[in-house]
Amino acid sequence: SRSINLAVIPGDGIGQEVVAEGLKVLSAVLPQDVKLETKEYDFGAKRYHATGETLTNADLAALKQHDAILLGAIGDPSVPSGVLERGFLLKLRFAFDHHVNLRPSKLLPGVTTPLAGQPEIDFVVVREGTEGPYTGNGGTIRQGTADEVATEVSVNTAYGVERVVRDAFGRAQARARKKLTLVHKNNVLTFAGHLWTNTFHRVAQEFPEVTTDYLHVDAATIFLVTQPERFDVIVTDNLFGDIITDLAAAVSGGIGVAASGNINPGREFPSMFEPVHGSAPDIAGQGKADPTATVLSVALLLRHLGYDTEADRIDAAVAADLTERSAQGARTTVQIGDALAARVAG
Ligand code: IPM
Ligand code: MN
Repeated sequence: SRSINLAVIPGDGIGQEVVAEGLKVLSAVLPQDVKLETKEYDFGAKRYHATGETLTNADLAALKQHDAILLGAIGDPSVPSGVLERGFLLKLRFAFDHHVNLRPSKLLPGVTTPLAGQPEIDFVVVREGTEGPYTGNGGTIRQGTADEVATEVSVNTAYGVERVVRDAFGRAQARARKKLTLVHKNNVLTFAGHLWTNTFHRVAQEFPEVTTDYLHVDAATIFLVTQPERFDVIVTDNLFGDIITDLAAAVSGGIGVAASGNINPGREFPSMFEPVHGSAPDIAGQGKADPTATVLSVALLLRHLGYDTEADRIDAAVAADLTERSAQGARTTVQIGDALAARVAG
């Protein structure tokens, strides 16, 4: 019989509240014969203050036993900037080789966009997750002096670029429009730019049905606002992907509905699914957080594990809920979770 052995990391702030609703919807959508096992982990600010630990090797060994990881949010103003980001989130992405950072943007009916009109927005960003300027290569000399020089090196390997480009072509091939846009800055970052561009064109030969396009990242930010309908699948490096996916979330309904997957496509390590939003300490514990982004992340999780029908049911439930949202008035985190759970069960 089938089973899902899930690691649950509620984390900090609203992470606790939204993850509870994500799990509620997950339990409701799974058929009887699928056994769901969950184990909660206490990573985040509290554990850091109590022990000084963010994520130990023993933690990684424990997490590795799971089929997937559901994460709420990690981060708190009481912890210096960068400690949990590098010590937890990035450490996990690197340790579990989450080289495909998947961030879909779909403007659903009933959702307001700051863009004029109601443009068609339905694209997915495939952000490289283990290279670029995120590897921690670089340094500083004469620190704190007027002559300080700091470097932050972007690492791009043929292996790393090719596998994420290939993944993106595969995703584009599977979609109706079959279009893939490479976003980079190859007019200035010529070394990495050539590697990305050459790889992109070479892999394109294997996907003749996929239409290809290239945009410099600055131009891409313009089109994400003025013509978001031109995008289907975007592939880009770690830092450009970080930035454009915040913009993508902003134009397609905001971080309340933005889901993401940190994916190890070969399933050598568990993949991790999380809402794009952070821990929002300002509204934590008040039942105000929208759990929709977490619920949509659960759908990505199910799709990754091969539960496509269940993932579709969640997507449909969210779409229906959002359509009727304006008529609902303000609802709490739990009320939205209950409504979505009822829809996927019924
Ligand atoms: C994200 C976040 C992280 C990133 C930070 C918190 C390290 O902004 O998931 O997009 O830059 O990848
Ligand atoms: Mn980000």
